[in-house]
Amino acid sequence: MKIKQNILAISGSTRSNSSNHRLINAFASLFSDSLIVNTFDGIDKLPHFNPDTKTENIASIVTDFRSQISKADGVIICTPEYAHGIPGSLKNAIDWTVGSGEFSGKPTALITASTDGTIGHQALLEVLRVIEAKNIEQLHLLIQFIRTKVSQEGEIIDKDTLSDVKALGQRFIETIAASIAEKG
Ligand SMILES: Cc1cc2nc3c(=O)[nH]c(=O)nc-3n(C[C@H](O)[C@H](O)[C@H](O)COP(=O)(O)O)c2cc1C
Repeated sequence: MKIKQNILAISGSTRSNSSNHRLINAFASLFSDSLIVNTFDGIDKLPHFNPDTKTENIASIVTDFRSQISKADGVIICTPEYAHGIPGSLKNAIDWTVGSGEFSGKPTALITASTDGTIGHQALLEVLRVIEAKNIEQLHLLIQFIRTKVSQEGEIIDKDTLSDVKALGQRFIETIAASIAEKG
């Protein structure tokens, strides 16, 4: 039996009918033979990051978030751009991992799925570079006009987008396999 890779998906959108949520579901279906995708739903429930917080006072949802990243073989982030930047809840969630280093060396894929998304995508790429997400230069994709490309039923209905997402997923799976092999 084929051993599947465990992926943690994080959506930067907290909307109930989010196209990024639908994209994560589409990604999970496309790669269901190779990946088990669990979604972390709580980015809007994390407290505001404060570097003064003593270890013993860190909220359990934060330690749970960190541990879900640590345990995952890889992380995929799908996010819109808000006001030419990274959505605040997502940036706050990532800030909770900067000191503890869960993203360092972790195979991480980034999809910015937005109306335009150019500036937010570059900003988040830079954040993922500085926290040392593994192979991020090969594992990112910008999907513009997302609402015309993922149906309400959660299918990727644009041919080029589907092909880009498949290619990204393949590179992600290869990066994870190499990372698991490196660890022995
Ligand atoms: C507060 C807010 C700010 C936004 N700013 C931008 C923006 O700067 N650039 C952009 O491409 N889209 C922007 N959008 C539109 C989003 O790209 C669009 O709503 C997208 O579908 C959101 O993703 P979601 O469907 O997963 O929630 C903004 C939306 C909101 C709610």
